[in-house]
Amino acid sequence: MQMNQKLKTAFVFISVLSIVSSLLAQGRPTSRSSVPVSTGIYDSALDSKVESLLRKMTLEEKVGQLVQYSAGQPTGPGTGRTDYNDMIAKGQIGALFNISTAKETNVFQKIAVEKSRLHIPILFGLDVIHGFRTEFPIPLGLASTWDPSLVEKVSRVAAQEASATGVRWTFSPMVDIARDARWGRIAEGAGEDPFLGSAIAAAYVRGYQGQRLDSPDSIAACVKHYVGYGAAEGGRDYNSTEISEHTLRQFYLPPFHAAVNAGSASVMSAFNSINGVPASANPFTLTQVLRTEWGFKGIVDSDWTSVGELIPHGIANDGITAARKAFLAGVDMDMVSSLYHDHLAALVRSGQVPQARLDESVRRVLRVKFALGLFEHPYADETREAEAMLRPESIALARTAAERSFVLLKNSAGPNNTPILPLSNDVRSITLIGPLADDAANMLGSWAGLGKDNDVISLHAALAKHVGEEHLLHVKGPGITGGSDEDMNAAVSAANKTDVTILALGENASEMTGEAASRSNLTLPGRQQELLEKVVATGKPIILILFSGRPLTLPWAFEHVPAVLAAWFPGIQAGPALVRTLYGESSPTGRLVVSWPRSVGQEPLYYNALSTGRPIESGDPKYVSRYLDVPNSPQFPFGFGLSYTSFGYGVTEVSQKQLKASNLNMGLNGTSSKPVLTATAEVTNTGQRPGEEVVQLYVRLQGTSVAQPVRALKGFQRVTLHPGETKKVTFDLGAEAFALWNDHNQFAAEPSKVSIWIAPDSTQGTKAEVEIVP
Ligand code: NOJ
Repeated sequence: MQMNQKLKTAFVFISVLSIVSSLLAQGRPTSRSSVPVSTGIYDSALDSKVESLLRKMTLEEKVGQLVQYSAGQPTGPGTGRTDYNDMIAKGQIGALFNISTAKETNVFQKIAVEKSRLHIPILFGLDVIHGFRTEFPIPLGLASTWDPSLVEKVSRVAAQEASATGVRWTFSPMVDIARDARWGRIAEGAGEDPFLGSAIAAAYVRGYQGQRLDSPDSIAACVKHYVGYGAAEGGRDYNSTEISEHTLRQFYLPPFHAAVNAGSASVMSAFNSINGVPASANPFTLTQVLRTEWGFKGIVDSDWTSVGELIPHGIANDGITAARKAFLAGVDMDMVSSLYHDHLAALVRSGQVPQARLDESVRRVLRVKFALGLFEHPYADETREAEAMLRPESIALARTAAERSFVLLKNSAGPNNTPILPLSNDVRSITLIGPLADDAANMLGSWAGLGKDNDVISLHAALAKHVGEEHLLHVKGPGITGGSDEDMNAAVSAANKTDVTILALGENASEMTGEAASRSNLTLPGRQQELLEKVVATGKPIILILFSGRPLTLPWAFEHVPAVLAAWFPGIQAGPALVRTLYGESSPTGRLVVSWPRSVGQEPLYYNALSTGRPIESGDPKYVSRYLDVPNSPQFPFGFGLSYTSFGYGVTEVSQKQLKASNLNMGLNGTSSKPVLTATAEVTNTGQRPGEEVVQLYVRLQGTSVAQPVRALKGFQRVTLHPGETKKVTFDLGAEAFALWNDHNQFAAEPSKVSIWIAPDSTQGTKAEVEIVP
């Protein structure tokens, strides 16, 4: 007993130490928090409150805390249950979601607080994904800013708005690594890279949870979908995954770990199976990794009916078995499937689920409720609700976020031999064409919370304001998925009449991107490609603005259209942000967080791939790893993005040529967190306009026990440069930049050859070489 206590204390100490050191590591060099993370759910002052309440609870009341239902607009297959008032009064519900006004949450809360025996407040959740009422760019766009501090500000606004309605829990951030653009949910995450993904994941959590989780304007984060959901085979949503432990640890787990280290109060278990074991009943990921290795103390919530889905997955033949398997694997709370409500008490009574295990899960839920201050302040302040929404500073932030999310893919010379963008204010005769030119709903993106079409300023509205209606010819042309010859002809003839044509093309946000929206081809839907080709044939200068939740395969466009801007779905300030960008009041600084494919057949496509034994560069004309009909390279690589100026990179230099694996491993064990190597390069603004560059640092390790990616991002930072200005950019790298998950699945440094590039994207830069010796 004595020993156990000591071990426990030591474990807690080590966990806290590792959390702190990982936080420091995550923060190096660019993701330093502007908000100190409070202890939140790890606050030991919560222990006695939790224990004293737990002692008073009946078995049924304990189970009740682990039950969650959707009481509003369903965000998954319906369940038909509506007897929530009665259930709450009996203490049978711990959390509700999909209600989003102070009035509604207060009605349910009053029942919980006044009618239930122990007065335990309800935790209200919602998918607050990229804004609550003020809608920001979709997460893929937010990640394209490569700006964690901006993401933190965005999620803080989302928290302020959501909390004003009593929603104190968001099912965000989604941190699934996504390597396949066919998967519709690539729109909801931060792309393909675990380093960038980790920085962005932590930023979301800091923003939502703020300095203190119990501040009335903070909300609990729920990092999802744990884990491997983005590796769905064939990019088909909900599909199975096969992921080795090495790949899981090196690529898929890090953003979750970063979110947990940043204090995320909860984790959502995913729909997919991993190597045959569903993620919502997976003891390895849910208990071994999350609890034992990471020391996570918050709630694991199932995804929508994912407990019940263990039956179609084929690992349970009835509800009681599904409930038992999910619960024992580590899922604390059952979202919607009702199987914990139906079976958990019986499972405890029959001894199939130990009482102590039940108590553990209940503790976690109570802990989050205490940490949020819900017992002291259970109700939403109805007077704060209206005032919290769409504040001018939130709208201004939405515009900045949108501007910074745009990725300029191409900008070649127009008629007067200068790049076509930015447009001069002298160009005052413009045709605007395309199904997304005057569209409000799609600008909001999928999972748009309480965003309203009326909140959106469309491209058309903003452009008309900028150039004046009289200078703008607006013809919609064919729709996203269809359209008549007449629509087509009207658009083409309009393009003939003005100096410049802007085409706003792309996907339908809610039907073609996000959940259950996978596509097997990645071209422009409907007749949009035909429209594009016909408009280009007019010979007029064309600017193509792409609205999409994923990269689209448009090789023809990239060959024939002089300027292409990836705008994703930019949120309520879509129009003003685009117009400022088109006219150079804002210069594009977004960079790709996903490799942009040439052809769907290249998917899954990601820059941090392993080399084959027959890499294409080996020179053999036939027996190399390649496609016959398309290059191996993407259309645009990870990290790519143009701006209105140009940048030159000097050589990459390193502070030392040799590192010792043993010293690095001491660093990794937390005994030293000092930088172990400094890499520098000079970056010069070689163009005519001021500009901001995202300087990236990549590493490759060769000669290791497990093959490592041809490049892996290990640092990034922004520099602002005037024309002609040069700055020396310095990266202080810690031991973790040189470590890998080795053949024993341990995170360690190994003797190896190291290449380091400081570069504008994942394919460029000059290489410095370092050796890691034993
Ligand atoms: C299912 C989705 O997979 C998940 O991301 C979401 O949070 C839940 N539904 C709740 O709406």
